[in-house]
Amino acid sequence: MKNNIAIFASGNGSNAEEIINYFKDHKSVRVALILSNNPKAFVLQRAENHQIPHYVFSREHFYKSKMVDEILKLNNIDFIVLAGFMWLMPGRIVKIYSDKIINIHPALLPKYGGKGMYGHHVHEAVVQNKEKESGITIHWVNEEYDKGSIIKQVKCAISPEDSAEELASKVHQLEYEHYPKVIEQAVLGK
Ligand code: GAR
Repeated sequence: MKNNIAIFASGNGSNAEEIINYFKDHKSVRVALILSNNPKAFVLQRAENHQIPHYVFSREHFYKSKMVDEILKLNNIDFIVLAGFMWLMPGRIVKIYSDKIINIHPALLPKYGGKGMYGHHVHEAVVQNKEKESGITIHWVNEEYDKGSIIKQVKCAISPEDSAEELASKVHQLEYEHYPKVIEQAVLGK
């Protein structure tokens, strides 16, 4: 039997696309579900293109009901991957999927993490502070933003002339290269 992954994403979903493609013909891991809090998220179109079941949920559903828990159960989800997901995981789901939820953050945590630090906000802050390097952090998810234990960090250099968009593009390349492989190792418990 395959290990079923659910991807949670709030926006474009370019990481989700890389992950879907990486596991397309995998013998023991399968992207079985895409979930989003944002009905306009392009990740839903990507799910449609790949014929992966997908659902949208509201804040009310997520935090005050067990709708998402039920969807995960009905789809036999073993492991959760956050890929550009901007809401905090409710403690309920963190408990059910203890040590089975992984996130990627587009900076070198613990710097540039926490509430409000997501996507382009992160890169703008990093460039504004004239940092010489940034990168990615892949970590386990607990009940606080960006606080779970770190699995892997990869750095990239920032040139003085790099804009936030250029930095975002460098960081995305690192994400595409590393996130699917780390997910594979985490799911298979290597
Ligand atoms: C990615 O860079 C991811 O690291 C970041 O959002 C981007 C989503 O891009 N996640 C966070 O900031 C979480 N705090 P994508 O939708 O194209 O994959």
